[in-house]
Amino acid sequence: MRIAVVGSGYVGLVAGACFADLGHDVILVDNDERKLAALNAGEVPIHENFLPELLQRHRGRKLTFSSDLQAAVRASAAVFVAVGTPPTEQGDADLSYVESVARDIAGAINGYKIIVEKSTVPVYTSEWVRKVILRNGAAAGSYDVASNPEFLREGTAVVDFLYPDRIVLGSDSERCTSLLREIYAPLIDGTYYQKPDAIPRPDGASIPAQVIATSTKSAELIKHASNAFLAMKISFINAVATVCESVGANVQQICQGIGADKRIGPRFLNPGIGYGGSCFPKDLMAFRAVAKECGYDFRLLDEVMRINEEQRQRFLRKVRSALWTLRGKRLAVLGLAFKGGTDDIRESPAMLLVQALLQEGCQIAAYDPAAMPRAQEVFHSQVDFASNAYEAARGADAVLVLTEWEEFATLDLTRLYNQLKYPIVIDGRNLYDPEVMGAHGFTYYSVGRAPVVPQAPEAGSQTAKVNRS
Ligand code: UGA
Repeated sequence: MRIAVVGSGYVGLVAGACFADLGHDVILVDNDERKLAALNAGEVPIHENFLPELLQRHRGRKLTFSSDLQAAVRASAAVFVAVGTPPTEQGDADLSYVESVARDIAGAINGYKIIVEKSTVPVYTSEWVRKVILRNGAAAGSYDVASNPEFLREGTAVVDFLYPDRIVLGSDSERCTSLLREIYAPLIDGTYYQKPDAIPRPDGASIPAQVIATSTKSAELIKHASNAFLAMKISFINAVATVCESVGANVQQICQGIGADKRIGPRFLNPGIGYGGSCFPKDLMAFRAVAKECGYDFRLLDEVMRINEEQRQRFLRKVRSALWTLRGKRLAVLGLAFKGGTDDIRESPAMLLVQALLQEGCQIAAYDPAAMPRAQEVFHSQVDFASNAYEAARGADAVLVLTEWEEFATLDLTRLYNQLKYPIVIDGRNLYDPEVMGAHGFTYYSVGRAPVVPQAPEAGSQTAKVNRS
């Protein structure tokens, strides 16, 4: 099928590349000519597993790039709208890009088409899109508006798209639903998974993909409710971690204990320094605003956001209490991205913490496997950027672990110890086993677990360091 995807940002680019891999002819539309030129020249603008392979495979063949929205609409049976919905100052979603795309689409409808929301939008957006298209001259009956939310996680977006937990098809017309089913047919009937060049199946993927057909409004709500629920799970465990710290319990054991209950499940129960990224913070605010507009005061969401903010402040207090004063202290920061596996620093708790520590007069030496170029644009020379974790740790008063990169979990602890001025690790992501850290001579603080302070390592000094080899 010929498909137009409007918006070559994160969601649009991944969806476009994956639709091409399912065998469709995709036109990816964007009004940013520089972005299009970069894509045409073979650049991959985001750090995402398997995306370079898919772009390489389909660029100029099943996947083309264009700035001509109306021509793309005329040529396509389905138009996926994946433009940005940034938050306004009040926290609700700014839908002006969606509206302007809907207006342009209206003038290009030349036969039955489906217009599908891919961006995360408030419930009722589909109704507005339908009205805008009608008001701008399209004939009633010549189109349907549907909602097909994405549940892609940054870093694993391609795999999430091709091996989804579920495909939600929200539509209010049979004709539209059957076109949507046709688009996803290779995932629904499983033929995609038999292709020799299919993107490899991740552990635990259930294939073929499950379809959940709903009304358009329900699909819109499913997206907001999913993200809100996941954020709630994170805030919940962060709050439990705080209780653990005050009573001397171990939050990791609590996670195991509650996560084994199938009704709860073990995922998204990792305590840390709070959630970040371009989705959860924005979607929580938007969902809160939508609920209010619909007459419901969703105060649970306020609490989820409050706990999230507080979690970062608690971590800052932990750093302060481990180091006493902060001014002039040299800190090694491991991780700047909002989570492991991505170069994205939007709403990254790690970035916010570095900002706060700089304000306190700390010197920061930071290392992140992917996010440093983006972080450099923010901090410039205020932060020393190291080429690896050990270099960042050299001569530091403490190490702060702020992003859950796998490579940080497997550091050579003896080497790390030998780099530091004081062997103090403050781990915001619980990457290490406290016992192991103690055995290596570290003073170790983590989240929701008792701190480890080695027994008098050297007479006369609580934090003195013994060099090891
Ligand atoms: C999130 C959702 O997981 C996706 O399903 C959704 O499609 C996407 O938002 C979106 O709306 O576009 P993403 O923002 O890529 O995906 O990142 P997550 O993996 O969900 O992590 C979000 C934040 O929560 C990160 O800062 C991460 O470090 C934190 N987190 C996650 C925790 O602190 N603990 C956990 O157990 C899990």
